[in-house]
Amino acid sequence: MRILVTGGAGFIGSNYIRHVLATHPQDEIVNFDKLTYAGNLDNLADISQNPRYKFVRGDICDSALVVDLLKQSIEAIVHFAAESHVDRSIVDAQEFIRTNVQGTFVILEAARRQRISRFIQISTDEVYGSMEPGEFANERSPLRPNSPYAASKAAADLLVRSYVKTYGFPAMVTRSSNNYGPRQFLEKLIPLMISNASEGKRLPVYGDGLNERDWIYVEDNCRALDRVLRDGRPGEVYNIGYGKPTPNLEIVRRLIVILGKSTDLIEFVADRPGHDRCYALNVEKLSGELAWQPAVDLEEGLRRTVEWYQKNADWMAKARSGEYQTYYEKLYSHRRSTLANL
Ligand code: NAD
Ligand code: DAU
Repeated sequence: MRILVTGGAGFIGSNYIRHVLATHPQDEIVNFDKLTYAGNLDNLADISQNPRYKFVRGDICDSALVVDLLKQSIEAIVHFAAESHVDRSIVDAQEFIRTNVQGTFVILEAARRQRISRFIQISTDEVYGSMEPGEFANERSPLRPNSPYAASKAAADLLVRSYVKTYGFPAMVTRSSNNYGPRQFLEKLIPLMISNASEGKRLPVYGDGLNERDWIYVEDNCRALDRVLRDGRPGEVYNIGYGKPTPNLEIVRRLIVILGKSTDLIEFVADRPGHDRCYALNVEKLSGELAWQPAVDLEEGLRRTVEWYQKNADWMAKARSGEYQTYYEKLYSHRRSTLANL
């Protein structure tokens, strides 16, 4: 199968491409990525010469380019490309609407016209909004997004739904929980904590640190996505999660232990506006229909993740420099001052 992966230079996309090339010797991948601040070709350096892998730089909003690309014998699309960071969407949502909503429309429309036979919209548990204690969202739960990022992803999901219902377009939607693992950009909780702790910097925990996320090791998510691509039912939505939400503070404390650092590094900072308290997913549909289970438990996944960042000091140093540094300093000082008063 020839698969177009959008956003393949980012965190999950690059792990997914590596997974497909390793497990499906007949498959070819075309990675289509704009290389925003979050796209990094170093993530794919080890497979860049693989004859079954091609990279095309471009924007998913560029309709003419997308139409041309799909004519290159593409059979399936796995659509990861998005602006993915909630804090950035709170500072400025414009690019989220352009890429996540308009961009998804461009890809969908071109795919429909080209009669692409399988399509996965990579969505998120954030579209369900915050869960009450003990509540788990299933695929029929209402969409109640609370951040501009989550709203843009929910809008894209609804566009996909409309293409399924109106045109019989063979799309599936996956809604996964928080991924972690190798090659995640430093702005997200786990790599940020690893990076800061390694440098003896403070570990900024938002609010009381008791917000919960259902952390799934990225390779488990990639296996699930691949099951959905090959054996999922067109038109269906599949939740993908680990099944056990964990408070942020516990994640940070576990990382501190693995890294051999002190809890004195923890600094409670102003909360994220609209901060969802808890994401929790019911994943019975995926495990029942497609016989998928997570294979990596949280402790093992965190250890593997820390080890990867420790072994890839160059990747870390590069990620810490440039645009990211400017953004991070700005966001952090903004959070400490202005957001504290919201
Ligand atoms: P990421 O930010 O690491 O990577 C996004 C990639 O998309 C980058 O390579 C970037 O260059 C590319 N991109 C952005 N705008 C583009 C555009 N206009 N045209 C082409 N390429 C563009 O993101 P990620 O964490 O790997 O997330 C991938 C997908 O999974 C996203 O759709 C996100 O909403 C979803 N998701 C992520 C998580 C998570 O925990 N990271 C969980 C659930 C769902
Ligand atoms: O739930 C899936 C979503 O997970 C994806 O759709 C998003 O693309 C992805 O970015 C992620 O969103 P979160 O907002 O949950 O992830 P983040 O790593 O930014 O934050 C995780 C939790 O940690 C959240 O409760 C906020 C908190 N946090 C985050 C950062 C960056 C802190 O306490 N301190 C921080 O410095």
